[in-house]
Amino acid sequence: MRRKPNASESNPKCVHLIILLLGLLSCGAVYMSMSRFNNHGNINVDKIGTLSNLGGENVQENEGRCRGVERLELWGKAVKWGSEFKVNSPQECCKACQDMCNNGPCLCDTWVFCSNRSSCGDRFGECWLKKQDDTMVPERQEAGEVSMWTSGLVVGKGEGIIGLETEYGTLHITLFPTCSPHSFLHILELLRLRHCAGCHIFRAESRGQSWDSQGNHIKDSSYGPPYALIQGTLEVQGLEFQNIPNEFQPSIKRGSVAWVGSGPEFFISLANHDEWKGTYTVFGTVRPEDMAIADRIAELPTKPDVWEGIHVSVLKRPVPLKFHRIN
Ligand SMILES: *[C@@H]1O[C@H](CO)[C@@H](O)[C@H](O)[C@H]1NC(C)=O
Repeated sequence: MRRKPNASESNPKCVHLIILLLGLLSCGAVYMSMSRFNNHGNINVDKIGTLSNLGGENVQENEGRCRGVERLELWGKAVKWGSEFKVNSPQECCKACQDMCNNGPCLCDTWVFCSNRSSCGDRFGECWLKKQDDTMVPERQEAGEVSMWTSGLVVGKGEGIIGLETEYGTLHITLFPTCSPHSFLHILELLRLRHCAGCHIFRAESRGQSWDSQGNHIKDSSYGPPYALIQGTLEVQGLEFQNIPNEFQPSIKRGSVAWVGSGPEFFISLANHDEWKGTYTVFGTVRPEDMAIADRIAELPTKPDVWEGIHVSVLKRPVPLKFHRIN
């Protein structure tokens, strides 16, 4: 994936190494159930949910981590007091919060773990489980100094969905707060602003002859161009963009919403790009029935361009974007 030339090329790419800790936790499960949903009714059920369907071992290594944001303290009403509940890792704290979700609404949507051994002292390992008044507007403790806490968010089934509004219709996107928390907080910030001045789609490429309407690659065809994606930016005018570290990087599926590098450019994939597994931070997935809107945008008039040797199709008229809340 190429960035649009001249877009924040001067920012050094900040590649954070995520420390791999526990085995598969919830992201894998969420993503698998999303792929199942994506493919609902159209497919070879045998393959769904298997790791090979998600791209194999590399993906297993890369996904499924319950992640938090370091040096962030989220506020909210405590449902379990950390002074009486200690665990060994942020992942365990996250898991404890998730365990309060079952199938209904989550009784816990926020976990806060005392993670800095030297500043936490005796409190190291405290795991506070909290519930926000509104999960989509989490309260944060403005840390004047460096916070000793690591925090994360958890949403239940049917929650964490936002609307990405275009003139061709609204794409409902399910976000992945547990796997891609920095991305999630960034999108919440855009929601809070209500406008997204400058956010737009500028590149549009169809599935061509290489991928079918379900996003499956057609045997022996090329992997593009066209590359079966729409690409744009979520950089808001007048707001400094904080680079997003590497988060959840599974295989790219039809409907995957992912950053190009550390953002603010992003793309929505129109096809299953297994050839891109482990490359892009995926922060959401488009509701399957809304993918027709993305396909439609991919058919708009374009002009050819070349970015760093890659042939791309740039929209003659960019499509402005805006976010709004769904739930
Ligand atoms: C932990 O806290 C100390 C100060 O007590 C600070 O110097 C250090 O950078 C912190 N570590 C992290 C990873 O935040």
